[in-house]
Amino acid sequence: MIGELEQRIEKVLGLPDPLSFSSGTAGLHAAYLALDMPPGSEVIGPVTTFHASLTPALHAGLNAVLVDVEPDTGNLCPAALEAAITPLTRCVTVTHYLGHPAAMEEITRICRERGLHLIEDISHAYLSTLNGQRVGTFGDICVGSMQDRKSWPAGEGGLFSASRPQWRERALLAGHYRGRALLLEDPELAAFGETGLGLKMRMHPLAAVVGLANAEDLVERLAARRALLERLSRGLQGLAGVRPPVVRPGAGMGGWFSYRPQIQPGELKQGVAVDTYLRRLRDAGVPAHYPSVGSLSGMPLFTCPVPLHAAAGTWRPRRCGPFHGESAYNAGRISVSVTGEDTEETIDAYAAVFAEASQALARPVAA
Ligand SMILES: Cc1ncc(COP(=O)(O)O)c(C=O)c1O
Repeated sequence: MIGELEQRIEKVLGLPDPLSFSSGTAGLHAAYLALDMPPGSEVIGPVTTFHASLTPALHAGLNAVLVDVEPDTGNLCPAALEAAITPLTRCVTVTHYLGHPAAMEEITRICRERGLHLIEDISHAYLSTLNGQRVGTFGDICVGSMQDRKSWPAGEGGLFSASRPQWRERALLAGHYRGRALLLEDPELAAFGETGLGLKMRMHPLAAVVGLANAEDLVERLAARRALLERLSRGLQGLAGVRPPVVRPGAGMGGWFSYRPQIQPGELKQGVAVDTYLRRLRDAGVPAHYPSVGSLSGMPLFTCPVPLHAAAGTWRPRRCGPFHGESAYNAGRISVSVTGEDTEETIDAYAAVFAEASQALARPVAA
């Protein structure tokens, strides 16, 4: 089952020789170990992502550096990345946030020029592309979560792929033991195959069964979701007081993780707040809410000393604020739940409610 799922991941996502893990977090942990960086090396990542894009670095003797994101996509800002690099920097991790590809042209250039490893977290972005190239194929290592809410769910699970066999072998050793760990090609690693590195991070076969079942119609399912979300974006186009989520030229949205328009407080009538607009949507039946993914910059793991001494290691996270891009990205940001149950009619009804809310609450757009 495990092997079958891994073959399917290779076929569907175009990733070389993938490995499955028990979670995306485990896959990221294995990625940080596989790159075998000196203790205290810095990993630079976006301030806006799920924490596990960066936090497993804590358990690989590394340190995390949070940098700002771009105000339109919420993705790692190349200029902020470049400014945060120090002699300790060894690695950059990008998340293709909510499914929108990060600025890989600039980011890969920076990593190449500065000799940095690049990890892509594709948990939100299955089947997304940038100028026709699949996300996950730009960097050294790609990891994705197959947790239940992701667009390719296995219940719980993670996928991993590396552009060099040695990184794959080390990741395998990091999270597996016996069985396939004894078959590693590198004799130095294979000598540790009985125990691996002592952690069990492999996927449960039942999760592989779920992952395989969800692979069956993945492409069609994501295409149908994309069509509905594009329809909703067309419905929001030109309305005062709200903007559909930005999709940059060249960006192919595969598995949108979440659909997040942005209410424009500056365009609302005097005395009308973002909350008023949101409540009006909700009262009229649009499943809209404030998004839950927050900033890493205020989380204790990035602001306070780690409470367990044995884990603390070299972990002294650096926050390269101020995070103006993140603030601009989050201002007025709401989320609209669109599920597989929705139809074009539901979407058109949502768009009509937005139009009515804008008519009532926003100042008219200048002609
Ligand atoms: C961007 C991102 N990276 C990593 C993870 C961690 O994956 P998992 O929950 O499978 O451990 C998640 C999960 O929510 C995520 O959204």
